Amino acid sequence: MAKPRTVFVCSSCGADAPRWSGQCPACGEWNTLAPFAEARIRGAARNEARRSERPEPIARLVTGTEERLPTGFAEFDRVLGGGLVPGSVTLIGGEPGIGKSTLLLQCAAALARENGVLYATGEESVRQVAERARRLAVDPGALTLVAETAVERILEFGTEMGARVIVIDSIQTMSVAGLDAAPGAVTQLRESTASLVRHAKGTGASVLLIGHVTREGVIAGPRVLEHMVDTVLYFESDSGSRFRVIRAVKNRFGAVNEIGVFAMEERGLKEVRNPSAIFLSRGSDPVPGSVVTVAREGTRQMLIEVQALVDASQISNPRRVAVGFEANRVALLLAVLHRHAGVALHAHDVFVNVVGGVRLAETAADLAVVAALCSSLNGRALPQDLVVFGEIGLTGEIRPVPYGEERLREAAKHGFRRAIVPRANLPRQLPEGLEIVPAAKIPEALAALS
Ligand code: TYD
Ligand code: MG
Repeated sequence: MAKPRTVFVCSSCGADAPRWSGQCPACGEWNTLAPFAEARIRGAARNEARRSERPEPIARLVTGTEERLPTGFAEFDRVLGGGLVPGSVTLIGGEPGIGKSTLLLQCAAALARENGVLYATGEESVRQVAERARRLAVDPGALTLVAETAVERILEFGTEMGARVIVIDSIQTMSVAGLDAAPGAVTQLRESTASLVRHAKGTGASVLLIGHVTREGVIAGPRVLEHMVDTVLYFESDSGSRFRVIRAVKNRFGAVNEIGVFAMEERGLKEVRNPSAIFLSRGSDPVPGSVVTVAREGTRQMLIEVQALVDASQISNPRRVAVGFEANRVALLLAVLHRHAGVALHAHDVFVNVVGGVRLAETAADLAVVAALCSSLNGRALPQDLVVFGEIGLTGEIRPVPYGEERLREAAKHGFRRAIVPRANLPRQLPEGLEIVPAAKIPEALAALS
């Protein structure tokens, strides 16, 4: 028998390295390489390959509609791309205490009405989980609980009871036998996940994995977990808020950037069906440096407040800080403002913040950032019934953004009366009660703002 070859795996990016070194050659992180017994996997993979099926024409495989299991939450189904796909593996990451166990217990109970569901917990006792189920007043249906951390045992139980859904709470507590590593170590995470993936693909059971995140906000353990599973979701919240947002960052069965919104209540999570304005909690008086934009998250519009603070700088290299918005883009917008509108901010510190812990990845927020900057600089508050969106180009042009009409309709629905938008986004039919000011160039937009 070949001697098991030891390779090293980076706990940050999941890359393999043939020998140990202090720094990962792939991602440059320090002290992240850990030994990993590769021969075992190679052996397992070989067996897998021998059992593999013969190639088939795809036409024979593409059959009408795909089966999806409803999770009991329309919001969760939406993020999954229309429900849980049989045979899929979904990883749900989030900080401790955010509500991962609560969410999956509620989903497991709903799924158990139609299917056999096994909830395996390595974090709590069955009593604790049952107590939570009682508190949540979920209808347990055919939900089966087990407090177990050995993956082989869980899969045996799953096979025995013919579970169509298996919940693993959490992947960091799980281990497979015969590995010289503690639960949570890279080797265990990788091997445990690999076993679960093989089970899912082999039996058609869906597996939901809970994963803890590190302080940096990524799922603890190797990034490689994200490559191994079909879907990666993050469960997040703005600190102190009772709202929880679930977001898809990878999905083999649906769109990414789709979000689902929940509220944590006395009796567990409740979905928020119409969440477009939950991040909007502005005071009653208009203040300089604040403006509302309409962002698009997944397939829906969200009203989001963008704030800016512009202040005379005391240092020769003024600060540019952006939270929830790309800092490089702020620098770009400042350059465009200077060059095309004569607004000079090189002696000012500039801070940009997106309220509610939201991250705006869309260029459609450009015009809102510029509006907030100018408002703060002039010390003049913008009207509270104003929304602004539009992409800004390097030549000072205001470029159209996708879904302009939908954005305007959402703003009108929430009582906004005025919108400054790219000229090319001017809709043929104006939403009722909304005055639209189209702008094609930065100076036009700034004139409309003052
Ligand atoms: P939990 O699901 O245990 O979080 P995680 O598994 O992500 O660590 O949720 C824990 C928090 O949720 C805890 O602080 C209490 C709160 N909570 C409620 O507010 N209402 C409820 O009905 C439940 C079950 C939990
Ligand atoms: Mg938990």
